[in-house]
Amino acid sequence: MRFMTQSLFLRALSGEILPKPPLWMMRQAGRYLPEYRELRAKAGGFLDLCYNPDMAAEVTLQPIRRFGFDAAILFSDILVIPHALGQKLWFAQGEGPRLEPVADESRFGEIHEEIDPDVLAPVYETVRRVKAALPAGTALIGFCGAPWTVATYMVAGRGTPDQGPAKELFRRDPELFARLIDRLVVNSAAYLNAQIEAGVDVVQIFDSWAGSLGPEDFKRWCVEPTRRIVDLVRARHPQARIIGFPRGAGAGTPDYIRGTGVDAVGLETEIDRTFARDAIQTLVPVQGHLDPQLLRAGGPELDREVEAIRAAFGAGPFVFNLGHGILPDTPIAHVERLVELVRA
Ligand code: CP3
Repeated sequence: MRFMTQSLFLRALSGEILPKPPLWMMRQAGRYLPEYRELRAKAGGFLDLCYNPDMAAEVTLQPIRRFGFDAAILFSDILVIPHALGQKLWFAQGEGPRLEPVADESRFGEIHEEIDPDVLAPVYETVRRVKAALPAGTALIGFCGAPWTVATYMVAGRGTPDQGPAKELFRRDPELFARLIDRLVVNSAAYLNAQIEAGVDVVQIFDSWAGSLGPEDFKRWCVEPTRRIVDLVRARHPQARIIGFPRGAGAGTPDYIRGTGVDAVGLETEIDRTFARDAIQTLVPVQGHLDPQLLRAGGPELDREVEAIRAAFGAGPFVFNLGHGILPDTPIAHVERLVELVRA
């Protein structure tokens, strides 16, 4: 009977080929929703929202109520890990995240060995509340950032177009950079394990800047640390389901899958569909890769692209998603149209 009630999302991740793909969207809880903007205004700061289980659970559930997606994703942020390791973090209005940069030995010395459990306790409470409130058949996804991507923010103190400061650090002082990555590996794995213990069904590792590394650096700073997280999670939870999202890895994605042992991968918008079908979906189930800008634009082109994506990936295990997060100025009507098309 368990199988009958298991969510379509979990069935697709287990390799089942379904007549209609399950659907969710990266950043589905966010500013394109008026109900999110309203709650966000009441919460004060973005971090206050992340650390308030009542409000974080509510915004996690908003897109489920409105669109009936097959999976909810915990409302939090990848940067709560550096924050819980003692790095100062704030979100400047309209400017994205800001951190006090960690780019030398003395600054690294201020980063704690282990996350402060009190800082992240509200996140686990959010998981318990969402889990209790979700309809049967809707899966709950937990997540963390991959060490490389999180390190790019920690080192630069902000988002960067080319990840220059982090690259500069691993060339100037690879030993220090390796210790920073190690610290993130151990703590990110503990964070995912705690989310699983609180009730998430699946975890996703977001490596948004995986595509900015050359082949050797990709192996060393992206694949290897992710494999260690996967191993640490499986050591405690052998049945854990783990999705990797090495955004921009392109032709390096098969190596990432073999090297990390993830159960499924997210596909960025830019990836070649034939390659993804023949060289990636033959290894693991895939999720993605609709262009968020096309969702924002809508119209007949959106309809055509949704069909093309279903035609490319529908014969294998597949979860419909975007190739990156939904844009804040995406019209709700276009999301409704997407749901209608995918479920048609
Ligand atoms: O997907 C979801 O709905 C769950 C929540 C989630 C958020 N961030 C909420 C958020 C997830 C999974 C993330 C991941 C995240 N955060 C990544 C990896 C994925 C990606 O987008 O590349 C990264 C790099 C971050 C770091 C981060 N957080 C940035 C760069 C920004 C600013 C950009 C922006 O959209 O403003 C954030 C803030 C953030 N995280 C917001 C949300 C809803 C917007 C903050 C607000 O409401 O003011």
